[in-house]
Amino acid sequence: MLELRKFVAPEFIFGHGALNLVGQYAINFGAKKVLVVTDPGVIASGWTANVTESLEKAGLPFVIYSDVTPNPKSEEVMKGSEIYFSQQCDVIVAVGGGSPMDCAKGIGISSTNRKNVLEFEGIDNVDIPGPPLICVPTTAGTSADVSQFAIITNQKERVKIAIISKTVVPDVALIDPATTITMETYLTACTGMDALVHAIEAFVSTANSPIMDLHALEAIRLINTNLIDTIANPDDIELRGKMMLGSLEAGLAFSNASLGAVHAMAHSLGGYLDLPHGECNSILLFHVMAYNYEVSFERYERIGSVLGIDMDKMTSKEKRIAVLDYIEQLKTSAGILKTLGERGVHRSDIPELSKKAIQDSCMVTNPRRPNQRDVEVIYEEAL
Ligand SMILES: [Fe+2]
Repeated sequence: MLELRKFVAPEFIFGHGALNLVGQYAINFGAKKVLVVTDPGVIASGWTANVTESLEKAGLPFVIYSDVTPNPKSEEVMKGSEIYFSQQCDVIVAVGGGSPMDCAKGIGISSTNRKNVLEFEGIDNVDIPGPPLICVPTTAGTSADVSQFAIITNQKERVKIAIISKTVVPDVALIDPATTITMETYLTACTGMDALVHAIEAFVSTANSPIMDLHALEAIRLINTNLIDTIANPDDIELRGKMMLGSLEAGLAFSNASLGAVHAMAHSLGGYLDLPHGECNSILLFHVMAYNYEVSFERYERIGSVLGIDMDKMTSKEKRIAVLDYIEQLKTSAGILKTLGERGVHRSDIPELSKKAIQDSCMVTNPRRPNQRDVEVIYEEAL
């Protein structure tokens, strides 16, 4: 409890109409011209137009950059950086899920440092902060809008790199739950499960702390009680708000406590096979928890209590089964039914996937330290 811990969080505005504050905040940050980073799906859902309307109302010129794919690639970041320079922008607004937000973070730091984004890999490797960054999240899952993380894919090496630095914490997050209404069902399920994984991995992380625990446990409670209802009632703004709050609290926890083997292994899948992040996490969660459980059983039991499992009369062994069963059931109820094998992962991919997962920054804070063979076994079980 007395180990040194810090807690970093940006300014954030949460609630109805937060989206409309983009123009005002850009002016507050001294903007003359804004680079709006987004993707084609978010443009189609209309949220990018809401952001640019807010900029227009504030009298600010802007340029849109939307060549961003899921698992954003370093080339996309560097192309955005060229546009930032050539258009003489001075503030960045990201609107979308984790991909545009991480891409925007990369554009910011590679622009000010005049370096390729891949050179910032690791912890605290950014010398100069990027320009002011405003994030408008449109999924209740990634929490890139409050985190110290940016995850970028190196296509040549087929690996995701993690940039972990206070300089990639946005200057403000404008969190408007209404933006999540347009998410389709499966994306709602996968992003919600991603947020749950953030909270669970932060809570059992070797870098946890009492302040982070508060947010992690509340996130688990909120996501557990609202995910399935939200999937069933996608237009219910109250439920969407609770999921967004759960995602925010999970983000505050994991940004500071970091993550674990689920994310290390999901990053490896995303980089090597370009598979969707939330879906990979959802599939891996049960298997990683089963591997970690014995070294952190007290924390997993506390998670079980927050999930509402009545464990009073259970033996430790029964508690373990109950917690793991609950997690698997939640994933199934959310409609995430495929295995890694069914998503195109082959047994022959596993050695390379495991080698990369072991080297991922998120593996450092996993409560149990796996060797490559351990990781291979977890992948095999999830096939
Ligand atoms: Fe995640």
